[in-house]
Amino acid sequence: MSILQYAAELKRRDQVWSFMQDPTPIDISHQVILYVEGLNVSFDGFKALNNLNLYVNDGELRCLIGANGAGKTTLMDVITGKTQCDSGSVYFGQTLNLLERDEAQIAQLGIGRKFQKPTVFEAQTVFDNLELSLKSNKGVLATLFAKLNAEQTDRIYQVLETVGLKQQCFMLAGALSHGQKQWLEIGMLLVSDPRLLLIDEPVAGMTAEESERTAQLLISLAGQRTVIVVEHDMEFVRSIARTVTVLHQGSVLAEGSMDEIQNNQAVIDVYLGEGQ
Ligand SMILES: Nc1ncnc2c1ncn2[C@@H]1O[C@H](COP(=O)(O)OP(=O)(O)OP(=O)(O)O)[C@@H](O)[C@H]1O
Ligand SMILES: [Mg+2]
Repeated sequence: MSILQYAAELKRRDQVWSFMQDPTPIDISHQVILYVEGLNVSFDGFKALNNLNLYVNDGELRCLIGANGAGKTTLMDVITGKTQCDSGSVYFGQTLNLLERDEAQIAQLGIGRKFQKPTVFEAQTVFDNLELSLKSNKGVLATLFAKLNAEQTDRIYQVLETVGLKQQCFMLAGALSHGQKQWLEIGMLLVSDPRLLLIDEPVAGMTAEESERTAQLLISLAGQRTVIVVEHDMEFVRSIARTVTVLHQGSVLAEGSMDEIQNNQAVIDVYLGEGQ
């Protein structure tokens, strides 16, 4: 783009400027969207991740389970650039080396992360939370100056529909139930149309009905995007799982369908046998 075209773009306040968007394409020619190989992370000599290998196909809904301290959150921390690893490799598609990028760059590539505790802006409306999230992903200048264009407004309404919060659109986020806050936060990730979503313990603290709606939501998201969910609630995992990966002491202990996992003696011994 020429300098004159940049200048013309800068005068517009109604759009997110194209030079702030990450145009990097993701090569999924081998159907794999996430490669994690030989990953090691230690904290003061303690191996939180130990030679971990994980491959996730594009469009999958993958469940990650394992006892407390197995390394599930640490794995998400490395994928999203929050934690540095000691060795190993993490690729997004065939070509994008995530270990060379920082948290902001990884988010810009289309990897969204949801932590366990909802972090919505309680004093803002549901709509405003989605608007802020849409713009903040595009850079500080865009957040300050850009007005929503029609396409972005449509996107927010689409997301409200997807997460089931259309009626709560102008409610303050602080007045939502715990489950609704979790859905809003998933919506805040969806506005920027991520390719890969990492969701840590989404149904902790939810009612059975909220949990069921969350299962439907996550199932509806997979396919067009890839979703990795960490969860301890086995009933929930059973209701959404296609492939389940079990982590134990920082490594993959087993991987397969829910039935295969539930009948795997090693998994029963170290995890499912604990009354889960
Ligand atoms: N920043 C850190 N500093 C020191 N130790 C850490 C740090 N983060 C994680 N750990 C340790 O690494 C191990 C793996 O933790 P992690 O949070 O990844 O487990 P998890 O599988 O997510 O467990 P949970 O199911 O309880 O959330 C734990 O023993 C934890 O105490
Ligand atoms: Mg965790």
